[in-house]
Amino acid sequence: MAMAELMALISKALDCALALESGGINELVVHARTKADGYKPVRRWEWVARIREVVKLPLIANGEVWTVADWHAIRAASGCDDVMLGRGAVADPLLARRIRCSAEAEPNDDDWREIEAMLGDFWTRVERKVLPAQSPGRLKQWLGLMQRRYPQAERLFQTVREARLGPEVSAILQREGVIAKSRAVA
Ligand SMILES: Cc1cc2nc3c(=O)[nH]c(=O)nc-3n(C[C@H](O)[C@H](O)[C@H](O)COP(=O)(O)O)c2cc1C
Repeated sequence: MAMAELMALISKALDCALALESGGINELVVHARTKADGYKPVRRWEWVARIREVVKLPLIANGEVWTVADWHAIRAASGCDDVMLGRGAVADPLLARRIRCSAEAEPNDDDWREIEAMLGDFWTRVERKVLPAQSPGRLKQWLGLMQRRYPQAERLFQTVREARLGPEVSAILQREGVIAKSRAVA
């Protein structure tokens, strides 16, 4: 993107933030990206710092925080104390705890066991609410993001990939020990 175009976009972002502040909002979360960026992994965290210079309201930085290191980096680049996690928390449900404990360790087998329990709980809830033809997609969506951080998720994703109906997924999760037999039947 050309420098002039970038500067115009930053100026628009500042105008937006000021308009929102004068409109009376209490706090502002900023995922600094352009419409053209979409979900491309751009990290325009320094834009948040620019916004911070012009508004007084609590500002929360957001975007592309996948690890504890990213959390440190976004805080440094944006100057914000507070950070909102989006996909990073879906990809690694233990990320907020890692941040709180300042634990840089990569996800391990113990973590995965904890997540398997979450997956079992998630699947039980999905099955209650979502039609059998649509429920597998919900699980695949989560595993799809989680495979970014957990090789175990990638393996499970491959195992459920061909399943088209909820009961097929239940049978697989039961076989894989993700849900208990009694829950699969219930
Ligand atoms: C599960 C999920 C639900 C989201 N729901 C909304 C929403 O309802 N409204 C919205 O403006 N953004 C929503 N987002 C986008 C996030 O607010 C966030 O700005 C975006 O995902 C970028 O942050 P990330 O890189 O941490 O994911 C959602 C993101 C995720 C992962």
